[in-house]
Amino acid sequence: MWRGLWQQRGMPNTVRAWTLRKAREADAPKLAELKIATWKTVYKGVAPDEVLKALDAKAEAEKFRKHIAAERENVLVAESRDGLIGYAVTAFSGAEGATGELVSLYVLPASIGAGVGQQLFDMALTDLAELGAGEAFLWVLEANARARAFYEHHGFKDDGGRKECEELRKPAMRYRRRVE
Ligand SMILES: CC(C)(COP(=O)(O)OP(=O)(O)OC[C@H]1O[C@@H](n2cnc3c(N)ncnc32)[C@H](O)[C@@H]1OP(=O)(O)O)[C@@H](O)C(=O)NCCC(=O)NCCS
Repeated sequence: MWRGLWQQRGMPNTVRAWTLRKAREADAPKLAELKIATWKTVYKGVAPDEVLKALDAKAEAEKFRKHIAAERENVLVAESRDGLIGYAVTAFSGAEGATGELVSLYVLPASIGAGVGQQLFDMALTDLAELGAGEAFLWVLEANARARAFYEHHGFKDDGGRKECEELRKPAMRYRRRVE
């Protein structure tokens, strides 16, 4: 189990310590709550309001259950004493060469900037390497400047891939980097 310590000062409402682990089936409802809370903050004013309003806890929990149960996918969570504060989803089908996908990476807004994202990211790339991936790609909204800067800081580069994100109905771009 990975342990993280809160590293920044002056952030009164955030967590001070957390652990990282693989999600269990029983985490699905809490993961759904976390996803909805983070999306409503991160994508406010970015994705259409109706998309955010329509997010449904039961449907989201079911999606997490599928990811957790899938053989070559993993859901990784960061958990503080108060509950889940971040998650990452990885997937490696093996179908398109040795390329894995970082499907999601989200940290609860109150815990952003404390190192949780970094640890989830490191664990996700290690996980993809263990699943057999030599390379990882991800999709990020063109409008999500903070996440793009985070990924670029960690060696991901725009590979020219473009599509409309189905869930958020906004243009997304593909980033890629090697994993070891
Ligand atoms: C992207 C996200 C997961 C990063 O997590 P975080 O908790 O803010 O990041 P951390 O505090 O762990 O950052 C650790 C490292 O990343 C760097 N970093 C963090 N945010 C950064 C940014 N926007 N630009 C450049 N570097 C960044 C930090 O400087 C630090 O690097 P260093 O140790 O070399 O100084 C988080 O901001 C988040 O959840 N954002 C909203 C959700 C989202 O947009 N997810 C991506 C969807 S595709």
